[in-house]
Amino acid sequence: MKLEIKDLSLSFPGQAEPVLSHIHFCDSFDSLAVIGSSGGGKSTLLRLLGGLLSPSSGEILVDGKALPKTPAALQQYRKELGFVFQHGGLFRHMTALQNIVTPLIHVHGYRPEAAQERALALLEQLGLEKDMHKHPAQLSGGQRQRVAIARALSANPRFLLLDEPTSALDPEYTSEVLSTLNTLRQEGVQMIIVTHEMGFARHACEKVAFLQRGTLVEWGESAALFRSPQTPQLRQFLGKMLEWSGA
Ligand SMILES: Nc1ncnc2c1ncn2[C@@H]1O[C@H](COP(=O)(O)OP(=O)(O)OP(=O)(O)O)[C@@H](O)[C@H]1O
Ligand SMILES: [Mg+2]
Repeated sequence: MKLEIKDLSLSFPGQAEPVLSHIHFCDSFDSLAVIGSSGGGKSTLLRLLGGLLSPSSGEILVDGKALPKTPAALQQYRKELGFVFQHGGLFRHMTALQNIVTPLIHVHGYRPEAAQERALALLEQLGLEKDMHKHPAQLSGGQRQRVAIARALSANPRFLLLDEPTSALDPEYTSEVLSTLNTLRQEGVQMIIVTHEMGFARHACEKVAFLQRGTLVEWGESAALFRSPQTPQLRQFLGKMLEWSGA
């Protein structure tokens, strides 16, 4: 996918400092990791990319097309994407299977049989066929996130947006979920992922963008950026991070 961000700024009402300030980005990638310290604006940027928030100024273009501005068009744009958040956001009163089938029917207009078929295929693909009739409370954290990923993939999204999908997980489950994402990536699923897992950003993502205090300080090829960061800010940030080496 191609992503262009042109002079993007965002301020929340009543706050003196902008949360994002004059962001410029232009690159093509299949997978992009967004990294940076807490409070730097990563989630906010992801929400803007997903059409969940609108910028105060500036523009975002995906594959050459500007994000829509009207609520109806934005809603349509959002439907074409897959979202995964830190806590997955599964419906607690539904089984894993129902969590996938229900939005397919009610949001995406699938016929029930087609929705069921699609959900079963995904649950199997992600190694969850034995758990499909469990409710979220009966699943491990890693299984819950894999159900959330299956749900995000269910309507064949243009790309996935993931906001720290592993940060609420134990190390064992973190590695399980990162491996799942890595497999999907190898199968051609495009993604933008906010992560504190530097090993994943470095080894599994094609490009990396580093945000600090609302500014996009540096971006580029993962390998090059981790090997030789160009800015003192990124050097310092990477120096402080512990690297995941699992999978
Ligand atoms: N809805 C909101 N209203 C006001 N301020 C907000 C809102 N959402 C985020 N902020 C502020 O914007 C800044 C960036 O927040 P954001 O959640 O994007 O950071 P982050 O990089 O994702 O941090 P973390 O790594 O901790 O998740 C923070 O100072 C936060 O307090
Ligand atoms: Mg965040």
